[in-house]
Amino acid sequence: MGAAGSARGSGGIAHVGIAVRSIEEARGFWEALGLVVEHVEEVPHEGVRVAMIPCGTSRIELLEPTREDSPIATFLAKRGPGIHHLCLASDDVAADDRRLRELGFTLLRPEPTAGAEGTRVQFVHPKSAGGVLVELAEEP
Ligand code: CO
Repeated sequence: MGAAGSARGSGGIAHVGIAVRSIEEARGFWEALGLVVEHVEEVPHEGVRVAMIPCGTSRIELLEPTREDSPIATFLAKRGPGIHHLCLASDDVAADDRRLRELGFTLLRPEPTAGAEGTRVQFVHPKSAGGVLVELAEEP
């Protein structure tokens, strides 16, 4: 099964991405639940600032746009704040990318790119994934 791919769920749901207008405004709800923002980072080429909030073995990722042409700004304009994507841990995102492409699924980018915290990430188009934007993330 070696060639069958890597995102088989052993790493679980790495995080749930939530689009917010402001991390500063949005974090209070999660903190009221006793969760703690462990990490805030800007990802300039994505036009976002992300706040990572550990939650059990997974995390909540708050995504705030840093410019008008950010995909998160577009999402907020169309749909308002809310769940944006589901991220699965992958131990070989390049292999997942290749396999999904061969199987005819639509990926958002020509190849995996740099994500937050040194990860390599790819996104599966919602039309290929039952209406859900799925991120695959490989730890550095
Ligand atoms: Co994410």
